[in-house]
Amino acid sequence: MTHNPPSASELGPVWIMGAGSVGCYLGGWLAAAGADVSFIGRPRVLETLRRDGLTVSDMKNHQHVIPANALKLFEALPSLESTSSTTQTPTLQPPALVLLTVKGSGTVQAAQELAAAGLPPGTLVVSFQNGVGNAELAQAHTPSLKVLAGMIPYNVADLGHGVFHRGTTGSLMVQDDVHFAPWQAVFNSTQLQLKLVPDLKPVQWGKLLINLNNPVNALSGLTLLQEFSDWYFRRCLAALIDEAMQVLRQAQVPYAQVLAVPPEKFIRVLRLPNFLFKWVGKKMLQIDPKASSSMADDFALGRTTEIESLCGEVVRLAQKNGLQAPRNAAMVRLVQAHTAQGAGPGKWSGKALLKALN
Ligand SMILES: NC(=O)c1ccc[n+]([C@@H]2O[C@H](COP(=O)([O-])OP(=O)(O)OC[C@H]3O[C@@H](n4cnc5c(N)ncnc54)[C@H](OP(=O)(O)O)[C@@H]3O)[C@@H](O)[C@H]2O)c1
Repeated sequence: MTHNPPSASELGPVWIMGAGSVGCYLGGWLAAAGADVSFIGRPRVLETLRRDGLTVSDMKNHQHVIPANALKLFEALPSLESTSSTTQTPTLQPPALVLLTVKGSGTVQAAQELAAAGLPPGTLVVSFQNGVGNAELAQAHTPSLKVLAGMIPYNVADLGHGVFHRGTTGSLMVQDDVHFAPWQAVFNSTQLQLKLVPDLKPVQWGKLLINLNNPVNALSGLTLLQEFSDWYFRRCLAALIDEAMQVLRQAQVPYAQVLAVPPEKFIRVLRLPNFLFKWVGKKMLQIDPKASSSMADDFALGRTTEIESLCGEVVRLAQKNGLQAPRNAAMVRLVQAHTAQGAGPGKWSGKALLKALN
C-alpha cells in the first residue's frame, strides 16, 4: 500500500517572518501549493501587497497571483496568547513551519519576537538567509523552537506592484531533519524545488563565495547581466572569491559547489575576456535581464547591508586563523563608506573598483 505524503493543509499553517523579496516569493508559491500562509512584515511591503496583491513569477514564465483580499498580512508579530482574545489579528494561527527571511541584521530581533510569540515548543523555523551563522544566531534567541538552516540559491527581485520574480536558477536546500522531511513534497509540488542535505555548512560557505558578488553588483549600480558583461567587474568578483577560497582552504573549512561548475572553474571563466566569456559564461550562468542583488536594494532603500555576513565573515575567518583577506576587508570598507554617505545606487566603474580592491 502506498501512502500519499501529507498535504500542505494537513501539515499546518506557515508563517513568513520577514515578508520581503525571499519571503514573499517562497510564501507565494507555498500558498500556490495549498498552504495557509501568513506574511509578517513591514508597512513598506505590506501596503503594496494590500493594494496590488502578490504575484510570484520565474524565468520559465511560471506565475501565481494571489489577490490582495486573499492575503493574510501582519505588521507586527503579536503574542499568540493575546491574538485569541482580540479582534485585531483573529486569523494568525500557531504555525507548523516558520520561514525566517529577514536580512542578517534583523535576525536577532526577529528571533526574539518569535520567542515572545508563544509558539508551541519545537515549532520548526527554517532560516532562508545568506551568510553562515544566521540559523545558529536565531536558535540562540529561540531556545524552545527548532531552527534549521536553509539556502536559497537564486536571486529574487522585487519588481514593484507586489511582483516578486526569480531571476536565476538552482534548488532550495534545507538541513535534513525528520520533522521537516514531510514539507519537502509540498515545496516540490510547486515551483520550489528543494533538496535535503545532511550538513548545510559547506553549502552555506559555497553560497557565500557566490554572494561575494552582492557588493560588487551593488557598487556597480547595474543589473547582474550588465555587471557580468564587464570584464573589470568580473575580475573584482574573481579576486574576492579567490581570496576567500584560499582562506577557507588554509583554515580547513569545507565549501560545496553551488553553481553548475566548481568555484575554481567559475573564477577562471570570470577572468576570460569578454569575447570568450560571452560564449562560455552564457552556458554557465542563466541570468534574467531584470535581476540585481539584494544589496543593491539595500543601497536603494538606504538600509543596513549584509556586508558583515559576507566579506566580513571571510575577514573574521582569516583573522581567527592568523591569515589575511585584504580584498574582502577593502570591500567591507567600501560598502560601509557608501552606506555612511547615504547610500543610493552605486556608481563605481569596474576599473576603479578593481583598483580599489587591489
Ligand atoms: N533577494 C534575493 O535575491 C536573495 C537571494 C538569496 C538569498 N537572500 C537572502 O535572504 C534573506 C532575505 O533577503 P531579502 O532580499 O528577501 O530581504 P528583504 O527584501 O529586505 O526582506 C526582508 C523583510 O523583512 C522585514 N523585516 C525585518 N525585520 C522584521 C521583523 N522583525 N518582523 C517583520 N518583518 C521584518 C524587512 O523590513 P525592513 O526593510 O524594514 O528591515 C524586509 O521588508 C537575506 O539574508 C538575503 O541575503 C536574498
